[in-house]
Amino acid sequence: MELYNAMRTTPSCRYFTDDPVSDETIHRILDNARFASSGGNRQGWRIVVVTDSDQKKRVADLHRKQWDPYFQHALEGTVGFQGDSSGNKMEHGTNFAVNRLRRTDDFAQKMHEVPVLMCCYVDLSTLAVTDKDLNRQSIVGGGSLYTLVHNILLGCTNEGLGSSLTTLLAAEQESCDQLFHTPNGFALGALIAIGWPVVEKQYTKLTRKPVEEIAFRNAWDVPFP
Ligand SMILES: Cc1cc2nc3c(=O)[nH]c(=O)nc-3n(C[C@H](O)[C@H](O)[C@H](O)COP(=O)(O)O)c2cc1C
Repeated sequence: MELYNAMRTTPSCRYFTDDPVSDETIHRILDNARFASSGGNRQGWRIVVVTDSDQKKRVADLHRKQWDPYFQHALEGTVGFQGDSSGNKMEHGTNFAVNRLRRTDDFAQKMHEVPVLMCCYVDLSTLAVTDKDLNRQSIVGGGSLYTLVHNILLGCTNEGLGSSLTTLLAAEQESCDQLFHTPNGFALGALIAIGWPVVEKQYTKLTRKPVEEIAFRNAWDVPFP
């Protein structure tokens, strides 16, 4: 698949068929994704590819521990979902926001059935967190994991696979570490669910803000171009 086409057609897939995904396919995706950049080329990323049914169930249970209360709060309008991804302001409770919530809930409730769950860790000792001393939330560290994560999402699209990224599992790191026998010093940054998409439930036309809204020439005052 042509790269720009893959970039424009990689949605969050929340409905998967039962068809298995071969190890060869997963290996090919990782073998290409690993060329992502990381700070100092230290490649601190490590991926636990979860395919065993019992292990997937444990992961899905942990994810649901975070998702279920989030979902309830979201339905009650206490968190997030004020806008859609194109930047159009959508009031909470509109069909768009609620539909997306329900799709995400369907995904969370059936996560154990998704063929592959990739749990993405990064070795904290490899990260140079250049914004760690600022008086705000630090964001730089994740940069050395999410380059790989997004390459994996694009690789899935290239294979015709659906994928979905969630970071909720990060809050369950302690339990995940026990489950996976994770060595000390690693942070869990993402879970990627991978499988063959249910075609009739899958959209590929993504809504995103135009360049003029997200890029500026020389300073914030002038939209680019
Ligand atoms: C950091 C991050 C965290 C996300 N967390 C979740 C999540 O917990 N559950 C989920 O279903 N999707 C999650 N997503 C996917 C986004 O919700 C999705 O990309 C967005 O709604 C736009 O949907 P689309 O890509 O299908 O157009 C996450 C995406 C990112 C980048």
